[in-house]
Amino acid sequence: MASKYCVANWKMNFNGQQGKEFVSLLNSKDLNNGQSQIILCPSFTSLFSMVEASSNSAISVGAQNMHFEDSGPYTGEVSAQMLNETDVKFVILGHSERRHVFGETDDMIHAKMVQSIKSGLTPILCIGENLDERESGNTNQVLRSQLEAGLADVNGEYIIAYEPVWAIGTGKSATSEMVAETHASIRNILAELNVSENVSLLYGGSVSPQNTAELAAVENVDGFLIGGASLDVEKFYSIYSDL
Ligand code: PGA
Repeated sequence: MASKYCVANWKMNFNGQQGKEFVSLLNSKDLNNGQSQIILCPSFTSLFSMVEASSNSAISVGAQNMHFEDSGPYTGEVSAQMLNETDVKFVILGHSERRHVFGETDDMIHAKMVQSIKSGLTPILCIGENLDERESGNTNQVLRSQLEAGLADVNGEYIIAYEPVWAIGTGKSATSEMVAETHASIRNILAELNVSENVSLLYGGSVSPQNTAELAAVENVDGFLIGGASLDVEKFYSIYSDL
């Protein structure tokens, strides 16, 4: 059975103090309520304080990105070894904003997958089609090529998040029918790539307390990757409770 995850992608929001306040509010709630593991992904500068604030709790912490090299002349970048120093266990890789705003290619994301696993981190690999690709009937082909590239010769633990680009931050989540169909296709592709059924497959894209009860009931949905709604502790907790 795949494990379930409720992952907050805070993007470039919240400073360290706000992150710690969120952890303290969340920790005051019953975190045995849902069946999923909570992972909060703040900005790099908050990682140390967030790991400290959430120690001895049901909350884990992850980073939003990392570089694929060990070290070197990469101004502004953070390596996996530096993430290890903060004691985070997870890292989001290949988020659509990294792909589309910062120009990350499948090759770079693959190199990050290899490096993160080598460094003992569990990557959350994001994949997803844009609106043109969906409307022209190419969704499965796009997802297949992102999976083939991202997972080539990758052995170890990882999580996959399906996030249709057109659903991210738009308030227009994919319908439960679309998620059911697409997650089933992704499972088929993963089976062809000899990826275990135990690899968790999350959905992301305008997840909110209004749609999580329905989406959580969809087969092959092993949790959520949440942007906007994860900035509000009540909304995040409500989503967690639906899983
Ligand atoms: P959203 O973002 O929930 O605000 O749509 C999801 C994501 O980017 O991971």
